[in-house]
Amino acid sequence: MAGATTHRLLRMSDRDALARVAAIVDEARASLATAEDEAALEAWRTRVLGRSGALTRVLRGIGSLDAEDRRAVGQAANAAKETLEGALEARRMALEHAALEHHATAPLDVTLPGRPRRPGHLHPVTRTLRDILDIFGRMGFAAIEGPEVELDDYNFGRLRIPEHHPARDMWDTFWIDEEVDGRTPLLLRTHTSPMQIRYLDRHAPPVRIVVPGRCYRYEATDATHEWMMQQVEVLAVDEGVSLADLKGTLQEFARQMFGPERRVLLRNSYFPFVEPGVELAVDCFNCPGDDPRCPVCRGSGWLEIMGAGMVHPEIVSASGYDAERYTGFAAGMGVERIAMLKYGVEDIRTFYANDLRFLRQF
Ligand code: PHE
Repeated sequence: MAGATTHRLLRMSDRDALARVAAIVDEARASLATAEDEAALEAWRTRVLGRSGALTRVLRGIGSLDAEDRRAVGQAANAAKETLEGALEARRMALEHAALEHHATAPLDVTLPGRPRRPGHLHPVTRTLRDILDIFGRMGFAAIEGPEVELDDYNFGRLRIPEHHPARDMWDTFWIDEEVDGRTPLLLRTHTSPMQIRYLDRHAPPVRIVVPGRCYRYEATDATHEWMMQQVEVLAVDEGVSLADLKGTLQEFARQMFGPERRVLLRNSYFPFVEPGVELAVDCFNCPGDDPRCPVCRGSGWLEIMGAGMVHPEIVSASGYDAERYTGFAAGMGVERIAMLKYGVEDIRTFYANDLRFLRQF
């Protein structure tokens, strides 16, 4: 068969060969138009463009033509090959398109079984945040929001943390290389405490607010630290507010949040904007409280969930109020840490990893 072809090509004139190429193209185009599926397209491709396809045979045969004929026939055959490859792609796309259209307009088959739809639900951190705001709401605290992009002055300066103050090490900061109304430096707030200043500057006591919001810290992540986390700031300023009010409020919060069986610990701590400063910790849910390998408490038995204290008198007077008359308490809690306690989650990073297998458990 191959011999016969060669034999015939040997006797082909230039004109014959060109006519043959044209005929192949005509026939191929016509048959391509009748190919209705991928199998038919593939069979067509093998027959026309494959290794022993019609066009390939012409190209193989040109070796026996004289030089001039060879060029003309070679060019024509190669052009035909490109044309037909293009036609094949176009046909394939047209078929795919038609299949999609058919699918879109196919009549509804009511006998098909339904596709189950999984109802969505709130993210565990969102749920925890709402619980926190509800508890404080029932105690008379209004929820207020503040900016995530903050001025150094509110995030640090007015909170009595001047530049180069060693306490700045507590808040590794993402700085922002822009300005707002010519005011700099800007940063991503490292805590919600700047809202203490912003709010007191504009609202006279009595003040009772909670401020939920995202905070950012330029630090390495581990089981209990994320570079983005949510806080809720608590601020109460009025005549005669005392440390006992702070303690009573936070104990009531912990009782409502974690139930009466969870133990809470108030111990002293330091933040430049409160005096005295305390921190509230809850007992570890992950280990008996003495396992040094415990990723949650590291053997301390306690998980710190908030810093707190009495608002520093300089802060009260800097906003224009008589610090002898008005006193207040403030607290700032990590929402993710509270969610970890509440739901028994061991690694804070899983909250924002967007793994549905994790999120669907809640
Ligand atoms: N802003 C502090 C922090 O992020 C927490 C805090 C708030 C401490 C209010 C005292 C009073 O660490």
